[in-house]
Amino acid sequence: MNIYFDNAATTPLREEVISTISKVMEDCFGNPSSTHAFGRTAKTHVETARKGIAKLINAAPNEIIFTSGGTESDNMILHCAVKDLDVKRIISSSIEHHAILHATDAIAQLFGTKIDYVKTDSNGVIDLDDLESLLKNDQDKTLVSLMHVNNEIGNILDLVQVGNLCHQHNAYFHTDAVQGIGHFTFDMEQLPVDFLSAAAHKFHGPKGVGFSFVRKNTGLQPFIHGGSQERGLRAGTESVHNIVGMCKALELAYENLETERKKVLEVKTYFMEQIRILYPEVQFNGMCDDLVHSTYTLVNIALPIPKDKALMLDFHLDLNGIACSKGSACQSGSQSGSHVLKSVRSERNEDWPSLRFSFSILNSREEVDQLIKVLRDF
Ligand SMILES: Cc1ncc(COP(=O)(O)O)c(C=O)c1O
Repeated sequence: MNIYFDNAATTPLREEVISTISKVMEDCFGNPSSTHAFGRTAKTHVETARKGIAKLINAAPNEIIFTSGGTESDNMILHCAVKDLDVKRIISSSIEHHAILHATDAIAQLFGTKIDYVKTDSNGVIDLDDLESLLKNDQDKTLVSLMHVNNEIGNILDLVQVGNLCHQHNAYFHTDAVQGIGHFTFDMEQLPVDFLSAAAHKFHGPKGVGFSFVRKNTGLQPFIHGGSQERGLRAGTESVHNIVGMCKALELAYENLETERKKVLEVKTYFMEQIRILYPEVQFNGMCDDLVHSTYTLVNIALPIPKDKALMLDFHLDLNGIACSKGSACQSGSQSGSHVLKSVRSERNEDWPSLRFSFSILNSREEVDQLIKVLRDF
């Protein structure tokens, strides 16, 4: 039996999404920029998807810019804020995804932008007093970029609180909501968020497509230069089938949000209960055992397993058909270990192996039972 507990890395496509994508691929190959009927049909697909996605998060259609996914959306917002909005300083945190951290490093090199990192505590919680003093103590035009749901430890950021703080200090607020969109509701008309990044493959949509939310009249200029697609902001022929598939995936995610949230949360709580029975000393990294301040979709645990034996743990799980992640998937194969866990882990469990298990509607309690059995045999 193969068990997939790595949904924060990517999610399987829903069947309805696959058939929607296949149908567009079969029926509509036109280039949305062409003015003939083939092109117009493709354009209609793209614009219908834009309206659909905008409606689901209560944004205006022209606030949705299609991209190739989370990484591009993050890079686009950070670069354009500096390039076009006179931003001289970015405040972020050390527990962001590398799509933010490496982009800010590159921006600092390219433009001489100042990068500040807000303090986080031992559970990875953003220190809002520190954020406030950073905002107060520098008058340079600032963009704050803090993620909504942490992809490794699941902490949820209060977007209203942070956004209001940013706006009180005349700073822009961007949130990487790659792990939040499709799992939580968003009302962009109400949220004090200027920019947001999303990726379809985290909510049972296709890979290689995502979107940026860019609040109306912010004044961003092109990030990728070329044709006039995406109102000139992001050139390149649109991936029509993927865009339509993303919209379908988001529609299904929000249509079923409450029932599916309940089901996934049940798997997470059952997992926590069972792992505590098997390893009473287990430690939960970050806030993931706090069901209010962490996402219902993941847990990140440190297990009391000796260092030499721990080396075999991944192999043992993989051999037994269980897929989970050491840190975040983007880092598997990297020797350096997770920068997020380094920031948050306590002294005590420094040597314990950490694993991230992330769940979706396709998981069940029976799969948790199977995992526990495999761990018991280790
Ligand atoms: C929080 C977060 N931001 C950005 C990304 C990058 O998204 P993509 O893989 O679509 O480029 C990921 C993917 O793991 C993520 O979890």
